[in-house]
Amino acid sequence: MRHPFLVSDRLYLRRIEEKDLEGNYFQWLNDQTVTKWMRHGIFPNSSESMRAFYSSQTVSKTDVVFAIVLKEEDSHIGNIGLHAVNYFFRSAEIGVMIGEKSCWGKGYAAESISLLSQHCFNRLNLNRLAAGAVAANIGSIRAFEKAGFIREGIARQAYFCDGEYHDCVNLSLLRSEWQQGGKVEA
Ligand SMILES: CC(C)(COP(=O)(O)OP(=O)(O)OC[C@H]1O[C@@H](n2cnc3c(N)ncnc32)[C@H](O)[C@@H]1OP(=O)(O)O)[C@@H](O)C(=O)NCCC(=O)NCCS
Repeated sequence: MRHPFLVSDRLYLRRIEEKDLEGNYFQWLNDQTVTKWMRHGIFPNSSESMRAFYSSQTVSKTDVVFAIVLKEEDSHIGNIGLHAVNYFFRSAEIGVMIGEKSCWGKGYAAESISLLSQHCFNRLNLNRLAAGAVAANIGSIRAFEKAGFIREGIARQAYFCDGEYHDCVNLSLLRSEWQQGGKVEA
């Protein structure tokens, strides 16, 4: 493991590093299958935009992006971000992308969300975590639900993907719910 920060059974999270920008990560953001239900993938990715994003998040006090790395192969398979951290309301948002398509459906998103949520409640003293997913993105919704998140509402026609408008499902996890067992389901 290189620079592990949070560690679970099969993976670890570390901060995104400059050298990640030229790895597979670059092409994940160009892959229309990966970005189908995301805000990415509208314009082609570029080294300049990645570097600008990287620089902004290294100094940000409200956003941090972690690499999701498989322990066994030490391979970077996706990212999970903590965004819009509000130190007064004690809230934040989580977004996740498993960029390596061969790694979909293996529980890595749910494991990463659970690991980061634990850190948010145990160390960052947050009270509420929120996430949003296009209603058609069943895998994303299910991954958050497996980590204990609860559906709380719909933002109607919030996304335009795959040729039509799509609702966004808003989910959240409160500290009190997490304490009662909002962990990854077996
Ligand atoms: C959506 C995404 C995060 C899911 O990650 P993942 O690691 O494959 O998800 P998990 O393996 O943790 O799966 C969680 C659950 O969803 C199910 N699932 C995953 N993909 C699915 C799909 N396409 N359709 C139906 N169910 C799916 C899994 O079977 C699992 O449920 P189960 O344990 O009851 O069987 C991943 O596919 C991805 O990053 N896609 C591209 C980017 C993206 O859409 N990010 C989310 C933006 S909100």
